[in-house]
Amino acid sequence: MTELKKIIPSRRTENIEYAIRDILMVAEERKRQGGDLICLNIGDPVLYGFKTPIHLKEATYQAMLRDHTNYSASEGVPEAIQAIKKQALSQGIQPYEIMVTTGASEAIDFALSALVNKGENVLVPSPGYPLYNALLSRLIGEAKPYLLDEDNGWQPDIAHMESQIDEKTKAIVLINPNNPTGAVYSEETLRQVIDLARRYNLLIMSDEIYDRLILNGKEHISIASLDREMPIITFNGLSKSYLAPGFRIGWSIMSGAPELIDDYCEAMKKLARARLCASHPKQFAIPAALNGASDHIENARRQLRIRRDITVERLNAIPRISCQEPEGAFYAFPHVDVDMSDQDFVKMLIRETGVVVVHGSGFGELPESPHFRIVFLPDEEMLHKAYDRLESFMKKYFA
Ligand SMILES: Cc1ncc(COP(=O)(O)O)c(C=O)c1O
Repeated sequence: MTELKKIIPSRRTENIEYAIRDILMVAEERKRQGGDLICLNIGDPVLYGFKTPIHLKEATYQAMLRDHTNYSASEGVPEAIQAIKKQALSQGIQPYEIMVTTGASEAIDFALSALVNKGENVLVPSPGYPLYNALLSRLIGEAKPYLLDEDNGWQPDIAHMESQIDEKTKAIVLINPNNPTGAVYSEETLRQVIDLARRYNLLIMSDEIYDRLILNGKEHISIASLDREMPIITFNGLSKSYLAPGFRIGWSIMSGAPELIDDYCEAMKKLARARLCASHPKQFAIPAALNGASDHIENARRQLRIRRDITVERLNAIPRISCQEPEGAFYAFPHVDVDMSDQDFVKMLIRETGVVVVHGSGFGELPESPHFRIVFLPDEEMLHKAYDRLESFMKKYFA
């Protein structure tokens, strides 16, 4: 009999980092030893008591009763596409192609896979959401980080962005509002990004999954609404603003001059066809979400504003911690002035206090610039408890 050999994973997975894992191991260790945890590390509103609106559940259930349980068209059901189109037009976006996907994550996967060849690169924000880096590793492409400027409200550093472009660059990723900083980009910034993309012939990928969670009363500007000709792909979905992350429903909206983007759209459609479709009945939650009652969003915004204010006020009152005010989403990204790596700091914080946050380098940030990300979804009492512990910890070890 031949001896069975160990299964060797592919090299394309080697550089995929899941920095949060180490942190969770420390948290689990504390739990095993009987310590409690206050989790400020998970970007899932439902886990913190925000309920998925009933009309989204009802629409899905009714779709199942109507036997929408077969495979749907690969790009999505017409009812969902119509609702996305209507909303896009109301935001000033002229859609060329809309695709319904398994979360925004799958749309991002299609968009990168249809674009990037081995050795090519895409500019990604640093700090930013790590899925882009993971997918680019899988494609044996390169994620080239461009800096977000903390002193300028975490807006992209356009000069640095330009300096990162080379002949292998294919696209610029924007996350607006940003995870992990909560920054919302100004029209001026967005116009500068368009100018740059135009000069270097780059596709813009705009991740706007938090677009309805703007906390400072301003209007969110979709970059695709500022230019009808430039190829821009906008990602969105039900996970955040619509409080349904477990539905796994997202979408992409491709816009720009048709003659520039038609082949690219066809390539994305090929990928979509290969995986058949997103969950058919749950696609019916899209028209319910986009056309139906939206008081849950107003409620969420009101609660998040209070929680954001507590977060910023409490953090800035702690010695050696400073925090820019997040304008959107539910994340804050404070700077901590300590003489150790961000990862060691976060591990020590968890061991000593049970407050679980994620270190900045988990979002592709340089470890020498220690930040950590806080999710301010928990209720006020829980947040105060967490910040009391953080304050005592800082006074005890870093006074
Ligand atoms: C910026 C950003 N984009 C995309 C996603 C994933 O979205 P989805 O749940 O729709 O796949 C997340 C989730 O945290 C995110 O923060």
